[in-house]
Amino acid sequence: MKKNLGSTLALYPTPAVVIGTMIEEKVNWVLVGHIGIIGHDLVMISLHKSHHTNKGILETGQLSVNVIDENMLQRADYVGIVSGTKVDKSEVFAYQPGEARAPIIDDSPLVMECEVLDNYQTETFDNFICKINNTYADTDILNEKGNVDYSKLKPVLFEMPGYNYLRTGDVIGKCTTLGKEYKNELK
Ligand SMILES: Cc1cc2nc3c(=O)[nH]c(=O)nc-3n(C[C@H](O)[C@H](O)[C@H](O)COP(=O)(O)O)c2cc1C
Repeated sequence: MKKNLGSTLALYPTPAVVIGTMIEEKVNWVLVGHIGIIGHDLVMISLHKSHHTNKGILETGQLSVNVIDENMLQRADYVGIVSGTKVDKSEVFAYQPGEARAPIIDDSPLVMECEVLDNYQTETFDNFICKINNTYADTDILNEKGNVDYSKLKPVLFEMPGYNYLRTGDVIGKCTTLGKEYKNELK
């Protein structure tokens, strides 16, 4: 039996990421769980219009999407509870400027440097549609083919309404293989 929960956002867990942007020559960090994939080269970052971060993104058109691991979690949570309008968060993470000058966190194992192409605005949110220009990965999370190995990188996940952080789990199947096996069973 199912209970209808009404209009409930139920697409969790999502990766928790730290978005970095420059605001008047100073870096600001924010934690975001509402991030999405569009096609094969775009991502969407959903940010409440009241956030300090939006000012920098709107001014520069540049941002970084820093995947977080458990070593970064406490600092990532901190940048999700205080606003750059009130507190200087620039010292929380050491960083280097990327090729397009977006701030790339040294401790993040995987960072996308993005340029904003569009903003799908709702009443209270800026939903930034971003093109990925560069991706910086620690070499120790790469496999022999040079791709990110998600058995080595363990991105922190986020869920609501529990408001918890989760760990990624085990590999439980190979994409397309399971479907092919099922297809063969139907024959
Ligand atoms: C786990 C977690 C996830 C969050 N996800 C989002 C999000 O997806 N979008 C958003 O606008 N704010 C999100 N926030 C809230 C912002 O991170 C928070 O309000 C932050 O202080 C805003 O910082 P700023 O004003 O310096 O930009 C999240 C906070 C936490 C703790």
